[in-house]
Amino acid sequence: MKSLSILLSLISFVVATPLSSSSQEQLFFNADGATYPGFNLDLTALRLVEMEGQAPVWVTELEKIKLKAEGINFFDITEAQDLSSSARVSLKTNYVFHAPNATERVKPILKTLSMEGPKENLKKFSSFRTRYYRSDTGKESQAWLLSKISQITAEHASKSLRRLIALTEFTHPWGQNTIIVRINGSSTDDDGVIIIGAHQDSTNMWPFLPAPGADDDGSGSVSILEAYRGLIAADFHPVRTVEFHWYSAEEGGLLGSQAVAKDYRSRSVNVIAMSQFDMTAWVKRGTREEVGIITDFTDPSLTKFNMDIVDTYLDIPYVLTKCGYACSDHASWRKAGYPSVFTIESTFENSNKHIHSANDRIDISDEFSFPHMLEFSKLAVAFAVELGGWSKTD
Ligand SMILES: *[C@@H]1O[C@H](CO)[C@@H](O)[C@H](O)[C@H]1NC(C)=O
Ligand SMILES: *[C@@H]1O[C@H](CO)[C@@H](O)[C@H](O)[C@H]1NC(C)=O
Repeated sequence: MKSLSILLSLISFVVATPLSSSSQEQLFFNADGATYPGFNLDLTALRLVEMEGQAPVWVTELEKIKLKAEGINFFDITEAQDLSSSARVSLKTNYVFHAPNATERVKPILKTLSMEGPKENLKKFSSFRTRYYRSDTGKESQAWLLSKISQITAEHASKSLRRLIALTEFTHPWGQNTIIVRINGSSTDDDGVIIIGAHQDSTNMWPFLPAPGADDDGSGSVSILEAYRGLIAADFHPVRTVEFHWYSAEEGGLLGSQAVAKDYRSRSVNVIAMSQFDMTAWVKRGTREEVGIITDFTDPSLTKFNMDIVDTYLDIPYVLTKCGYACSDHASWRKAGYPSVFTIESTFENSNKHIHSANDRIDISDEFSFPHMLEFSKLAVAFAVELGGWSKTD
């Protein structure tokens, strides 16, 4: 194990410094051919990646890891090459997002949201050595999340609501599955689906190193889980189907969300709106607490709707910001032709700089804020009720 630890220290040196010089390149290539217990990752495997404005290129897993370490975002389209090619799904309606009007339903739920569950859940979720999508601990963290969702459902959903809820694993070939929770809508003539998403996997810049992923995206994962808890505890029976997704392999080039979006499109599922929550905890010292609303590569009218929701229901204002091409799972839905949006903890510039390192921890700084996360749970609750509607409970 001595050579391994030397290698790891070399690599941590590499990832802590800019990745340009040829000696550093060499260090990365030293890793080639090594095997890592607990990981199912072949660094020589070929992957097809799509970067902004370029034709897709074949690269090795190792080269893909290096691209990410250099801060370049991409879709890994190896298994989803036709996601955008057959154009838009034929949506039955061109949905117009209304001004928020369900305050009587939403506001009482917001009062019931709590920081206790998110604290406990995130402590546990960030305690796995890594939630890397090709690691054994990434499978374990997924199993834990599924059992937690199942427990919350059993504890908080009424009998009639439980009959409408389905928990499923969307299986992927790499091991860690995407989790989908569906609350069936009551409508018989409106097949619209509302999706609230976050990604469950984490990564270190060098994927074999520890990756607690407290903010990225443990925070979004537990923020939407608390929204789900609050909704079902309030006996939310939607008119339209509302789904919560915890994607696998966002860090591998949006692999999980592309697979799900591809499946939905191939079945012509009528997704009306998808909202991604990726990093919801960090309030940089000396900055105003705000919700970052991403305006690039998102749907403009759904983004406007999100601004209205923040104004109507949150205790903090929004700020418009950008995060670039393929920066989180909303991008997969957009590529599949569905309206999607993305909110983040702050402006992109003020977001947590500890991500993709062993320091993405709850306890790294008092800038990591559970009250801030709670605002995002509110946003998710409002999004679900405003767009999902509320049918009379039976
Ligand atoms: C809100 O407005 C939409 C669009 O006009 C409408 O379909 C919905 O029933 C309204 N909801 C409430 C609670 O008034
Ligand atoms: C939800 O609705 C779908 C489509 O109608 C149906 O196939 C499924 O069985 C329903 N699930 C639950 C849990 O009611």
